[in-house]
Amino acid sequence: MDRAPDISDTAFITCYFRSLDPELSRDPLASLWVDSAVARLGDKFRHEVIENDPVNIQLRCRYWVEALERFQAAHGEVSLVNLGAGFSMYPFLPCLRETSLSLEVDQSHVVAFKRARLAEFARDGRVPAVRHLAHRALDFEREPFEALLDEELAKLGRDRPTFFLLEGFFYYLSPPVSDRLWGWLRSACTAGDRIGMIHLPQEIRESAAYRRTQRFLQEDCGYDGEAIVYHEREYFSSEGLEVLDQSSHVGLARRYGVSEDHTNDNTFNEHFLLLEAGDGP
Ligand SMILES: C[S@@+](CC[C@H](N)C(=O)[O-])C[C@H]1O[C@@H](n2cnc3c(N)ncnc32)[C@H](O)[C@@H]1O
Repeated sequence: MDRAPDISDTAFITCYFRSLDPELSRDPLASLWVDSAVARLGDKFRHEVIENDPVNIQLRCRYWVEALERFQAAHGEVSLVNLGAGFSMYPFLPCLRETSLSLEVDQSHVVAFKRARLAEFARDGRVPAVRHLAHRALDFEREPFEALLDEELAKLGRDRPTFFLLEGFFYYLSPPVSDRLWGWLRSACTAGDRIGMIHLPQEIRESAAYRRTQRFLQEDCGYDGEAIVYHEREYFSSEGLEVLDQSSHVGLARRYGVSEDHTNDNTFNEHFLLLEAGDGP
C-alpha cells in the first residue's frame, strides 16, 4: 500500500476481517492479502469506528459463498461477474467448480496488483494455477463502461447462467453512474441469471456507526463520503426480476445466530438482495 490512501484500501480491510475467522467467512484465502499495514488499518477501523464490522464482513462473505454454491448446484456450469471485486477470492473457493468462468472488474491499480500477486501465489502453489479468471480494469466514474462490459460478457460466452455480484461497491458510485450501471445490468441479464447486490437504504443516515465510517473513509481512505448513494429496495424492483432473498447485517447476525445486539446505530448496516432474472423484460 505504498501510495496515497484510496477507496480500494477498504478492499484490503474486508480481506483482513474475513481472515480473522476463516471458518465463519468460509474464505481461507483472504489472509493472502493481509500484511502489517493492512492489519493496522483494519484494527484502527474495528477499534475506533465499528466494533462489529469483522463479524459482519465474515457473514457477508459467507452469504455470497452460500449463494454461489446454490447457483452452482442449480446449474452445473456457471459464470461469475464480480464488479468492484477488490481482492475477493470466490473463483478459487470450492463454492465454484474449477470449470467455472469468472470476470472481475475494478480500478486499474487494484487489477494490476491483484493479477501480479495471484501469479505469485499460483507459482508458490498457494492458489490453484489454472482458473478461468479474466480481469478488466475500469473506473466506472470516468469511463463509458457499457460497451466494454458487453465485450467482456461476450468473451465469457453467454451459454451458461451468470451470477453478477456487487459486494460493497454499488453505493460508492455517484447517482448518474449507479443508475447507468443498474440499467446495464438489467439489459445484460437473461433468464436464470442472478444479481447479488449490496445497497444502503436511507435509514443508514441516522446511524452513528455510519457517520463514523463516513469520517474514516474521508480521513483514512481519501474518499468523499458525501457521495455515498442510498437506494431503497424498490429501486431494484423491476418486472422480470424475482427477489429470492433479502437481508441486512442486523438480519444476518440473527439468522446465523452470532449476535442479538446488532442495531442500525452500531452497525454499518448494508442490505443484501439476491435477485433472479426471469423471461420478462
Ligand atoms: C469495499 S471494497 C469491496 C471489494 C470486494 N467486493 C469485497 O467485498 O471485498 C470497494 C471496491 O470498489 C472498487 N471501486 C470503488 N469505486 C470504483 C470505481 N469508480 N470504479 C471501479 N471500482 C471501484 C474499489 O477499488 C474497491 O475494490
